[in-house]
Amino acid sequence: MCGIFGYIGPRDPVPIIMGGLKSLEYRGYDSAGIAIIQDQNLQVRRCSGKLKNLEELLAKQPITGQFGLGHTRWATHGRPTEENAHPHRDCKGRIVVAHNGIIENYLPLKRKLIEEGHKFTTETDTEVIAHLIEKHFDGSLEQAVLKALTQMKGLFAFTVVSADDPQKIVAVREGAPLIVGSVEGEGFVASDIPAVLPYTRSILFLDEHEVAVVSRDGIRLFDSSGKPRTPKFQHITWDPIMAEKGGYKHFMLKEIYEQPTAISNTVLGRFSLDTNTVHLEDVAFSNDEWKSFRNARILACGTSWHAAVAGKYMIESLARLSVEVDYASEYRYRNPVIPPDTLFIFITQSGETADTVFAQRQVRDTGSKILTITNVVGSMTTRVADAVLYTRAGPEIGVASTKAFTTQLACLYLVALHLSKLHGTLSEAEMRKALTDLVELPHKMEIILENAKHIEEMSKALFRHRDFLFLARGIHFPIALEGALKLKELSYIHAEGYPAGEMKHGPNALIDENLPVVFLAAYDPESPDSHQRYEKVLNNIREVKSRDGIIVSVGNENENDLIESSDHFIPLSPTNEYLLPILEVIPLQLLAYHCAVRRGCDIDQPRNLAKSVTVE
Ligand code: AGP
Repeated sequence: MCGIFGYIGPRDPVPIIMGGLKSLEYRGYDSAGIAIIQDQNLQVRRCSGKLKNLEELLAKQPITGQFGLGHTRWATHGRPTEENAHPHRDCKGRIVVAHNGIIENYLPLKRKLIEEGHKFTTETDTEVIAHLIEKHFDGSLEQAVLKALTQMKGLFAFTVVSADDPQKIVAVREGAPLIVGSVEGEGFVASDIPAVLPYTRSILFLDEHEVAVVSRDGIRLFDSSGKPRTPKFQHITWDPIMAEKGGYKHFMLKEIYEQPTAISNTVLGRFSLDTNTVHLEDVAFSNDEWKSFRNARILACGTSWHAAVAGKYMIESLARLSVEVDYASEYRYRNPVIPPDTLFIFITQSGETADTVFAQRQVRDTGSKILTITNVVGSMTTRVADAVLYTRAGPEIGVASTKAFTTQLACLYLVALHLSKLHGTLSEAEMRKALTDLVELPHKMEIILENAKHIEEMSKALFRHRDFLFLARGIHFPIALEGALKLKELSYIHAEGYPAGEMKHGPNALIDENLPVVFLAAYDPESPDSHQRYEKVLNNIREVKSRDGIIVSVGNENENDLIESSDHFIPLSPTNEYLLPILEVIPLQLLAYHCAVRRGCDIDQPRNLAKSVTVE
């Protein structure tokens, strides 16, 4: 949840570390700090609030030196004050630590260290790390770190430097993400890839329980017992420019507009109209394995969970597998009954969400087969899976997930079609239609984006409302949930997603002239089932209208009944039922975005949130 960045090399470390922190600020922005070593002297600057406060502090009280580390915080233990801002020091101020995650046993450790004479100055769990390393320090920083690690429990990552063993940064991964970048004479440590992309695309993803010693001479890697390991670097194809705003006011807006290209990249080379097949050769399952699955369980959190619910509809209907969906954060508290031949699918943009990765480990221990759908090459989820399907969305920086979501939906569609081919549940003609619809999809997405001005206008009439409802049926229901989540997290407006048919069972009581109700009412004109669902949604719209609710609807262009029943209407050019969610969610993302802009909210870094949730 926090961002860590470390640099060692010939250049001035301060601007490099500040630049790294800037690109990691989406991970946490409660407070920030930097520690620099110069000629065995350690200097620290810290402050509460966003990184710009630290920039201002550094302008007034500059520091320079040979190497160092920085941190941008999402508070878990201790309020977001200057004292609690990282990096944290030991008693003598010779060792500093920047940390992400939680030291679960920090209280007993702290009590013991206080008994032994250590002086604590903060409310954080992190300070324990600095004092533990101090306790074990005997000239070698990595040896002290290895000894300290034997006493620490939890899921975390940290970097540490010492003025008494200079010219190295020690980096530790115990569950939370940490990567190392290396080029001739320089070393980088960071919580995420975009931070090091301006310098190198050769990345070492630290594995669980690994300790890296980063110096100008290169990287030395150890397991937690101190045994050397050979670092295996991976080449990252993301372009550094992709992680910049590129003329857009916010990363989120840029990422919304990138969706047609992202979807094209996701499906590129993964199906063929010539052979009428999906081919997922990059996924390490044989056709026999794919065929053996009769059931599927999909686990995820947040927006990825909404993709999972949509995936259930796709796989159930198209491939006729029995599918259950779980919140990864809840799964470990259940005692599930898993039928044989079950495929587990985990979905996580970051690949590092603690709840998801924990559930994944639990499933792996049962021996079930795991497919993970993720956006981040080499991330934790990929190490706990039998097979990986990358979404290829490119870096997603905005805290609110957009292009990661739609590319997850596209991946699930491919999985559903692939399974359906192998299980023989679709005719050749149906498969051809399903694949042709996929080819046409990016263009239909572009049309929605070209008409985005209309949604911006609409937000003028809507942004002041205190509550919203999002209603839909079938596969569109998870999109209603996603629309509500986007509005909540970006604009801090209370919003709920609900199955439209459930309204009469209670929530109808909420409807009055102050309540905007957003309906997802698009349908596939070639599918009688889809049309029937639409008719029912239209009835629900009339029910809300007759109770004075404000109707916002997303539906097929030129659908006169719907247009006449709506106060605000967003048209789209329809496609099949299983791809409609990818179109429908775009106006909801834009609506949330424009309402949030009008309310003066922080678009890319909404309050109390972080992009990568690496704590439970
Ligand atoms: C979405 O806008 C959120 N920021 C959040 O719900 C996110 O989808 C969730 O935390 C899961 O993240 P993941 O996909 O990286 O696992």
